[in-house]
Amino acid sequence: AKKIILSPSLLSADFGRLADELAALEEGGIEWVHWDVMDGVFVPNITFGPPVIKALRNRSKLFFDCHLMVIKPERYINDFLDAGANLICVHAEATSHLERTVSQIREAGIKAAVALNPATSLASIEYLLPELDMVLIMSVNPGFGGQVFIPFSLEKIRRLRKMIDEQGAKTLIQVDGGITPENIAPIVDAGAEVIVSGSSFFKFPPYGKRRELFETLSQV
Ligand code: DX5
Ligand code: ZN
Repeated sequence: AKKIILSPSLLSADFGRLADELAALEEGGIEWVHWDVMDGVFVPNITFGPPVIKALRNRSKLFFDCHLMVIKPERYINDFLDAGANLICVHAEATSHLERTVSQIREAGIKAAVALNPATSLASIEYLLPELDMVLIMSVNPGFGGQVFIPFSLEKIRRLRKMIDEQGAKTLIQVDGGITPENIAPIVDAGAEVIVSGSSFFKFPPYGKRRELFETLSQV
């Protein structure tokens, strides 16, 4: 059985107690945490940016998985590096020169990822796979937590799995949006390795128990 990485999305955490939430995740045996950065233009919502992430960096040892839902993310790569990001994920739809933006992240020595909206084809990252540490398949249209998993995402994950295996690439597959303990099994079976969960994670403390439930039900 393959062990998944669970990356809880702080979008559904208590923003007034972020330091406590990060500590509670660590206590619950969580290793990654997912930061949903929204600019109000690429997506309708606005969340937080590098200053908030930087303030929490020295309060937490977790792997900071930063999902940038931001137009022209190349403008902010240095700010996220300075904030202590361990991984920066940019949207293929948000930057005109995706390879250049990915190189910019890699050259800084941290992990680079590309996210694809539900309507975006895998073709946009096919040639880039050898340079990517992770591809994020969005299984909802980004902008809000608590939406319903889009069923055709499963076929997209399977096709990406095949593409990565055929190329012999090491790229991880992350899936984000509408994932619950009830629907995680087919998502992992399709090839997902890193699972993001916001609303169906943070609403159900204690986090260690919730993590165990996601992990147990991910294996069928
Ligand atoms: C959506 C975000 C997701 C979201 C997931 O724009 O990228 O990370 O917070 O939340 P749930 O698990 O509630 O769909
Ligand atoms: Zn996200």
